[in-house]
Amino acid sequence: MSVPSVPAEAVLAQLVQAARAARAQAYAPYSRFAVGAAVLDAEGRIHAGCNVENAAYPQGTCAEAGALAAMVLAGGRQVRAVAVVGEGDAPVTPCGGCRQKLREFAGPDVSVVVADMQRERGRHTMGQLLPDSFGPENLQ
Ligand code: THU
Repeated sequence: MSVPSVPAEAVLAQLVQAARAARAQAYAPYSRFAVGAAVLDAEGRIHAGCNVENAAYPQGTCAEAGALAAMVLAGGRQVRAVAVVGEGDAPVTPCGGCRQKLREFAGPDVSVVVADMQRERGRHTMGQLLPDSFGPENLQ
């Protein structure tokens, strides 16, 4: 079954929970900054990922990249909602590179829910996080 363009709150809550569970699996021995992410695809499936660091620091990967890789592996090609979970004084919004990675599969109206392990910390649209973006349509 396909997912409506604005997913129900209960589904967004599931998405946040999936990102929290993923964060618990993070491999972040260098930054000690664990992040979890989850994406909801057009088929209603949830795909999660965590950050995976590397002794060669720039080779580490973000949680969002892991979630997107899991989605693509499962055949998903559209993101309907995103959750990112991290702890800190400031809400953990997707880094610049991840905004572009998400943009590949998400339009400007897609919600990005930011949370910590206890509560929601903010909500943005992809268009707010990456305005006037370059995307696949530019190459058509
Ligand atoms: N990190 C993510 O996984 N996602 C983000 O959007 C922000 C940053 C990770 C990368 C690195 O492992 C750690 O957080 C500190 O930057």
